[in-house]
Amino acid sequence: MVLFQKKIDPARTGVDFDRLPGHIAIIMDGNGRWAKKRGLPRTAGHAAGAENFRTIATYCKDIGLDYLTVYAFSSENWRRPKEEVGAIMGLLKKYLLEAVSRMERDRVKMEFFGDLSPLAPELRELCQRTREISRHYEGCQVNICLNYGGRDEIVRAARAYAQDCIDGKADPNHLTTEGFGGYLYSRGVPDPDLVIRTSGELRLSNFLLWQLAYAEFYITDMLWPDFSKEELLRAIAAYQSRDRRFGGV
Ligand code: IPE
Ligand code: IPE
Ligand code: MG
Repeated sequence: MVLFQKKIDPARTGVDFDRLPGHIAIIMDGNGRWAKKRGLPRTAGHAAGAENFRTIATYCKDIGLDYLTVYAFSSENWRRPKEEVGAIMGLLKKYLLEAVSRMERDRVKMEFFGDLSPLAPELRELCQRTREISRHYEGCQVNICLNYGGRDEIVRAARAYAQDCIDGKADPNHLTTEGFGGYLYSRGVPDPDLVIRTSGELRLSNFLLWQLAYAEFYITDMLWPDFSKEELLRAIAAYQSRDRRFGGV
């Protein structure tokens, strides 16, 4: 197991690997600050962040995590300077091209949550191709939130549901929370148990508003490109020490 190869002694991590959270969500924040600290352009931070995403996603698969969902680009991130958005899109393309070529080896299932329609056709096709190849794989599923906004997701779901009612396929008197969940991007995926935000910000920034209803929070000051496997294990150990009550006693 990679855990041993990388000289992480499982006994010293405080993590019970038989009781991992089923689903971890990460707000990968702090690329810009990471670059600024080094006197580099923000885009260098995004490049380092993309590289770290690969490391962390692979590690999640290696330790046997079932689901990882990451916030890569929010529906509000279009407000950034054109050059920065362009650089992020370029990195996404590069990442996906590499991911497609390594998929046979990595066998990580990939999904995308978000409205992909405003993305460049080439990027959209890459997402589609990645999705299709993934259908043949079992095991760890990585969901990349791309042009994703939690409120937008809920409104889209409401629209689709209303249309089903108009078409006579659904009856509003019988709508349940589970049923409504089936209209979200995350349909079929269990809710995250643990949400991690890097860079110390204490907010959700429109991430998985519906799905995080009962998730445990772990906030670290570490900037995303510095976020390490050890810090991930600390987050999991913290999660395992929590008392989840789901409204009970
Ligand atoms: C997260 O890092 C990456 C994206 C939002 C695309 P930021 O770019 O938000 O980094 P900071 O918050 O400015 O440091
Ligand atoms: C959230 O980070 C979005 C991603 C990490 C992709 P932001 O940097 O966009 O969030 P705010 O603006 O600090 O709330
Ligand atoms: Mg940020």
